[in-house]
Amino acid sequence: MIGVAEAEARLAGMSEKRAAHARRVAAVCVELAKRFGADVEAARLAGLLHDVCREWPPEALLAAAVRHGIPVGPLECAQPVALLHGPVAAAELAAAGLDDATARAIALHTVGGAGMTTLEKCLYLADFSEPGREFPGAATVRLLAQTSLDDAVAEAARMSLASVLHKGRGIALGGVELYNELNDRLGRL
Ligand SMILES: [Fe+2]
Ligand SMILES: [Fe+2]
Repeated sequence: MIGVAEAEARLAGMSEKRAAHARRVAAVCVELAKRFGADVEAARLAGLLHDVCREWPPEALLAAAVRHGIPVGPLECAQPVALLHGPVAAAELAAAGLDDATARAIALHTVGGAGMTTLEKCLYLADFSEPGREFPGAATVRLLAQTSLDDAVAEAARMSLASVLHKGRGIALGGVELYNELNDRLGRL
């Protein structure tokens, strides 16, 4: 079983900057969980732990992904840090006793996917919109998150996809699935 004390110990092994980000994500994730009805302690843990593998070298992420049976295709090989740090962290933490619901939120926090739970959406949104995020659009997402989880996540997913397209990079399908699913639910396919 992993609790807040162990999460704090793991943060001590990360850079100050990353640990501070994780603490801000945890605070926002707790706030969102209270607002939209997810498990508050799971939200805190998910926020603290979501980037524990974010500073691993690409080769270590690829090796760990293979070891855990996480699918690795050309896209993951090309963008291992962006696409694998969440799934690898989830697998490593699940092996160390983290519960499945929190681990899945961590696995999906960067790209997203279909059928996300409230906890998973809270973490996705907290990572996208924590107060240290200053890119254009983060404020819009923060505002939407005051009233509608799905509206805020849909906008964050749209911006993430737009940014990937703008850079001309390959697109992870989970992000497209999340975007389409929420737009369908919001009546704007
Ligand atoms: Fe991350
Ligand atoms: Fe993060």
